[in-house]
Amino acid sequence: MFDKYNIYCRIDMLIINLEGDIMNDIKDVVEQIKNRCDIVSLISEYIQVIKTGNTYKALCPFHQEKTPSFHISETKQMCKCFGCGEGGDAISFIMKIENLNFIDAVKFLANKYSIEFNNKFDEKTREKIKKAKIYENIHLEAARFYFANIKNSKAYNYLVSRGIEVKTIKKFGIGYSLDEWHSLKNYILSLGYSTDDLESCGLFIKKIGTENIYDKFRDRIMFPIFDYRGTVIGFGGRVLNNDTKPKYLNSPDSLIFNKSKNLYGLNLARQEIKNDTLILVEGYMDLISVYQSGIKNVVATLGTSLTNEQAVLIKRFANNVIISYDSDEAGTKATLRAIDILKKQDINIKILELLDCKDPDDYIKKYGKKSYENQIENSKHYVQYQIDILMKKYNLENHEQNINFVKECIKIIKGIKSNVEIDYYVNYLSKISNRSIEAIKKDIYGNYYREYKKQNYKVEKKTEVIDSSKIKNYAEKSIIKMIIEEKSLRNSIIDKVSINDIFLDESKEILKYIIKNKELDKIDIEKNKLFDISQDYIKDLKNITYDTENIDNLINIMKKNTSHMRMLSIKNKYKFDF
Ligand code: GTP
Ligand code: MN
Repeated sequence: MFDKYNIYCRIDMLIINLEGDIMNDIKDVVEQIKNRCDIVSLISEYIQVIKTGNTYKALCPFHQEKTPSFHISETKQMCKCFGCGEGGDAISFIMKIENLNFIDAVKFLANKYSIEFNNKFDEKTREKIKKAKIYENIHLEAARFYFANIKNSKAYNYLVSRGIEVKTIKKFGIGYSLDEWHSLKNYILSLGYSTDDLESCGLFIKKIGTENIYDKFRDRIMFPIFDYRGTVIGFGGRVLNNDTKPKYLNSPDSLIFNKSKNLYGLNLARQEIKNDTLILVEGYMDLISVYQSGIKNVVATLGTSLTNEQAVLIKRFANNVIISYDSDEAGTKATLRAIDILKKQDINIKILELLDCKDPDDYIKKYGKKSYENQIENSKHYVQYQIDILMKKYNLENHEQNINFVKECIKIIKGIKSNVEIDYYVNYLSKISNRSIEAIKKDIYGNYYREYKKQNYKVEKKTEVIDSSKIKNYAEKSIIKMIIEEKSLRNSIIDKVSINDIFLDESKEILKYIIKNKELDKIDIEKNKLFDISQDYIKDLKNITYDTENIDNLINIMKKNTSHMRMLSIKNKYKFDF
C-alpha cells in the first residue's frame, strides 16, 4: 500500500509544521495574489456565476440550494453565501473548495498566477524544509519496512486475535518493529541516508555521550500516523501483551510531527464525512475497530487530551462532533475537557454512551455496528451529559445539595450560546430541581437580566418571561410581512431565506404561495381562501411594524434558531410537557 504515497515529499505538508516561521516570508506573496487574482473569474472556474446588474450570484457550492444565495462582490473581491454563511476572499474560497489550509491555498494560487513562492524562504527556513523532507522520506521507508515485517509475525497473530482483518491491516498500513536493536537503522542506512539524517527524526535513540544510535521501536505493533493528507509523519507502537509498560510508545514531536496538531485517521475520515459529523475516539484500536465495522467518519487523538489546534482542524472538516471516549472515570474526565475545547470552536457536541462496555472497540465487538450506529443516533447533547453527571453526584432531596447542584448546572447553562437552548435547559433544570424558572433565569443572566427583559419587552410588547422562541417567531413573522407587502424586496428576501429556515406552518404556507406568485402586487392573506391562517397569526402580522433596514438582522435571528426550535419541539413531544 505504501507505493501509493509519493516518495518525493510535498512541500505543502512541510509547511503545516513550519507555519510560524514562514508566515512572514509569504506576506508579499499574499499581496501579489490579491493584485493578480479576480475573485469573480476564479470562482467562475468552479461554478456557474450569474451577473445581475452590478452583482454576481451563484448557487452556493458549500450547501444544497435551489435559488442562488452565494454573492460575489467584484469591488470588494469577497464572496458570501447568505444561506449558509460561508465566504471570504479568494484565499478562503480556495481553502474551502479545495480543502486546503491557508498556506497551501496561498501556494495553490501563487502557482496559478505564476507568482514565485518557493524561493521566498530565508536560509534557515530552507534548511529546515530540506531536513523535514528527509525525515518524511525516512518515515515512509520505515512504514514500508515495518509493514513488510508483519507478514507471518507474532504481531499479525495478535492483530488477528483482536479481530483485525487483513484488509484493515493494509488500509492502515499496520506493521511490526522487529525485536532487534538495529534493524530499522541498518535498513535506512542501506538506502543511502547518513547517520546525521537519523538523528532527531524521532525513530531512533542516540545513547548520551556516545555515537551509538539504535531503533526506538522494538517488538511493537506499529501504527503509522498520517497527516490529514496521507503523509507518514510519526508512529504509535503497541506492545504485544498487556503487561509491558508503556503499552503504547509514540513518536516524539519532530520537525514533521506535532502530536497536538494532528488527528489519527483524519486522512481517511475526511473522505467519509457524513451529516457534517466526525466521531472522536481516544485510541488507535478504537478507531480501527469502528472504521473496520464500516463507520468511517472517525478520528482519534494521539494519546493526549484534545488540543485547541485539533479542534480547529476538526472544524475545518465538520461542524458536529460525537465524542466516543472510554466509559471509565478517565474517559469521562477527558470527555468533559474535550467538550470545553470543542465549544470554543463553535462545534456542536454530542456524547455517545457505551452502556456496559469500556471502549468503542469493546462495544463494536460485543454489540456490532448496527447497535453502535444506534448509539450515534441517540447520543446526548453535551449539556444534558454534563447535567446527568452532576445529578449522580448530588442528592437532590437534600436541600443544600439541591442548591449546589442547581448552581453547578447554572454555570454550564451560562456557557450555551443559543437562547433557545438556554430556555430548554432552564425549564429542564427547574423541573428536576424544583426551583423556579424565574430564579434560575435571574442567576443565568445576572445583571443583564433586567436589560434582557426590557429588550424582550420591546420585541414582544407584553412578554413577561424571557422566551427566545418568541423572538424567533417575531423575526419570522416580520419577514413574512415584508414579503407580503414589499414587492420590490420580495426577490432579494426570497433569495436569502429557504423554507427550512421557517418554523411556523402558517409562515411556510404563505412563503410557498408567494414564491409561486412573486409577481402579484398585493397579497391579501386574510381574504385568500387558499390559506389556513389563524386569526391570532393575522393579528400578530397586523401588530408588527418593521424597518426594512433591519432585514438582514431579522433573517439572521430567524435562521439562527430554527434548527434548535425543531429539536426542542421534538424533545418536548417525547420527553417533557412544560
Ligand atoms: P488497546 O489496549 O490496544 O485496546 O488500546 P486502546 O486504544 O484501547 O488503549 P487505551 O484505551 O488504553 O488508551 C487510549 C490511547 O491512549 C491509546 O490508543 C494511545 O494512543 C494512548 N496510550 C495508552 N497507553 C499509553 C502509554 O502507555 N503511553 C502513551 N504515550 N500513550 C498511551
Ligand atoms: Mn481498548
